[in-house]
Amino acid sequence: MTKSTLMQTAPGHEVLAAAGKKYLRPGGRIATEQLLQWANFQPGETVLELAASFGYSAIALAQRYGVKVVGVEKKPESVRQARDNIRAANLENQIEIIEGDIFHLDAIPGQFDYVLAEAILTMQSPPGKAKILAGIRDRLKPGGKFLSHDLLARDNEEQISAELAQVIRVNATPLSEANWTNTYESAGLHVEKVQTGAMSLLNFRQMFQDEGVFNTLRILGNILTREPIRKRVLEMRRVFNKYNEELGYILICATTQ
Ligand SMILES: C[S@@+](CC[C@H](N)C(=O)[O-])C[C@H]1O[C@@H](n2cnc3c(N)ncnc32)[C@H](O)[C@@H]1O
Repeated sequence: MTKSTLMQTAPGHEVLAAAGKKYLRPGGRIATEQLLQWANFQPGETVLELAASFGYSAIALAQRYGVKVVGVEKKPESVRQARDNIRAANLENQIEIIEGDIFHLDAIPGQFDYVLAEAILTMQSPPGKAKILAGIRDRLKPGGKFLSHDLLARDNEEQISAELAQVIRVNATPLSEANWTNTYESAGLHVEKVQTGAMSLLNFRQMFQDEGVFNTLRILGNILTREPIRKRVLEMRRVFNKYNEELGYILICATTQ
């Protein structure tokens, strides 16, 4: 399969990663910063990160807060790249990346002070969300905190899911604030804090803030010069703009008690 055909079928986040994007989250770096403030990590505490991708978040947490991180990532190439990034950052004593599936968190030994999940629960079906949340609840220590960052659909959930699935090639099911909260409470996770805001994944001003000037210019260059990527990015942007009023990001901090 050529690179070009790969880009036609690849999940949206892989197309954006191929364009050079590091931040693959609806609220970008600013939203992530809010989650980290809510966490108030202490040195030596433990974090389980779901969908750790290339390890960027795990490295940032270990460097900034002195926490120990276990990351779970399914894609072998991403696991390899994450381990290389961690080795290069000299953080192998603090971070472990497991090649695993977030549907089988029972395979991960021990319990954690925190579980972090950014831009992954949205991509699961309602039963899939329920299964993963039950697994998260069981991996948290009593009083432990679950921190998540996902896509919000203030209205028209089904219509948006149907159109998003076509352009990002993943059965994404963003929910309203009430439905996200109910989904967590039904899984035994008590919602303590919620914050919502504008969706900014393909907002170029936000991209400059998240990715920096140099990397944003590189991303724009890739989008302009590589037709298969440009085609997919414009398709995604069209749907994001069409539902600009409804779409947003949602941050949730939940506990086991
Ligand atoms: C949208 S990216 C988000 C990555 C990262 N959390 C971030 O915020 O930048 C989704 C990641 O989840 C991984 N993934 C998808 N399904 C998974 C599963 N069932 N188990 C583990 N990882 C999975 C993908 O390979 C990809 O790296």
